[in-house]
Amino acid sequence: VIIFLTAAMRNPEPNINGAHVLVTWPEYPSDSPHAGARLTAAGLTIKAAPTHADRTPDELSELAAGAVAAIVSTDPFDASVFRACPLLRVIARVGVGVDSIDLLAASQAGVAVTITPGANESTAADHTVALILAAVRRLAEHDAAVRRGAWLRSGSHTPWDLAGATVGLVGYGRIGRLVARRLAGFEVRVIVNDPVVASPGSVRRVSLEQLLATAGIVSIHTPLTEETRSLIGPREIELMRPDAILVNTSRGGVVDQDAMIDALESGRIRAAALDVFATEPPQDQRLLRLPNVVLTPHTAGISEQSVRQMVQQATGSVLTVLDGEIPNGLANREVLDHTTLLPVGAAAQSGSVAP
Ligand SMILES: NC(=O)c1ccc[n+]([C@@H]2O[C@H](COP(=O)([O-])OP(=O)(O)OC[C@H]3O[C@@H](n4cnc5c(N)ncnc54)[C@H](O)[C@@H]3O)[C@@H](O)[C@H]2O)c1
Repeated sequence: VIIFLTAAMRNPEPNINGAHVLVTWPEYPSDSPHAGARLTAAGLTIKAAPTHADRTPDELSELAAGAVAAIVSTDPFDASVFRACPLLRVIARVGVGVDSIDLLAASQAGVAVTITPGANESTAADHTVALILAAVRRLAEHDAAVRRGAWLRSGSHTPWDLAGATVGLVGYGRIGRLVARRLAGFEVRVIVNDPVVASPGSVRRVSLEQLLATAGIVSIHTPLTEETRSLIGPREIELMRPDAILVNTSRGGVVDQDAMIDALESGRIRAAALDVFATEPPQDQRLLRLPNVVLTPHTAGISEQSVRQMVQQATGSVLTVLDGEIPNGLANREVLDHTTLLPVGAAAQSGSVAP
């Protein structure tokens, strides 16, 4: 493996002998010729520290100390972690959201951050449509009722309709567009809100206020950034229709969770379908007790195929960066202002880098 040097020589040059890659993605296939075996063939050691829940930056610093690379899910890489891990050269995010990583601090520290675009957006779009259908057809409520011996088919238990509904997509990027394509078969009207939609095609672009006031189903597909944190807050929820269903497969922080729970409890909005939460797993008993929510454990982007593709891409990105090349899916191009990708070794001659 070839390590690249920072132009400013801010970081000490990593010693590849015994260098390790921290892998926090659960069930990373360490022996697979498409994943872990490529790292070991390149002379790297895998340090597996799988996690299914949030970690603190201090915990992460301890784990990542001495690592030249990290293959991660949503671990919190802030400036303190970069200070504690001066050998780190690349964080390969398995997935596309980078809200858990301080990209500016990463760039300044000469750490490339990569994502896996194209690997999980179909799965995330499928999951979104599944959640929309589950909420509209009240699957979770009825499933629970049947299991306890109840047979509730009418009155306040009557399922709702998707055909004829207006679906509002907040965020019309990779996933939002695929959701719209899938919904084309459901006889719904799709409206979208996104500041940078170039060609919305057959969907109508509206303001967020218009979308919230019009849509019976509001589905969130923005990244979590400073601008989108609590994008759907008390004021926005107040604008929603009383029969509205809120679907969130993006990030919990985009919705003000307390305000949403208040609205669901009081019947101010009808229902919600959520894959992401303010903290994960969600602890709020008020949320967990609500009958009118469908909950999934941040699995929107996860399927057998998407996971296989994501870990392969993330592994390839680590090797690409360590070989001094610019990887696909580089999320912080600004790192190139702080770093020159200069190869300083030649172990990759072993053919460890797959095409
Ligand atoms: N739950 C999961 O498992 C899962 C899986 C994949 C992605 N995600 C989340 O979904 C997000 C979207 O993924 P993507 O691949 O479609 O990203 P993307 O970058 O292709 O699209 C995001 C869109 O949101 C728009 N946007 C940004 N700020 C906005 C705002 N204030 N209002 C309206 N639109 C705004 C952008 O212009 C862009 O078009 C990711 O950032 C990630 O956090 C979650």
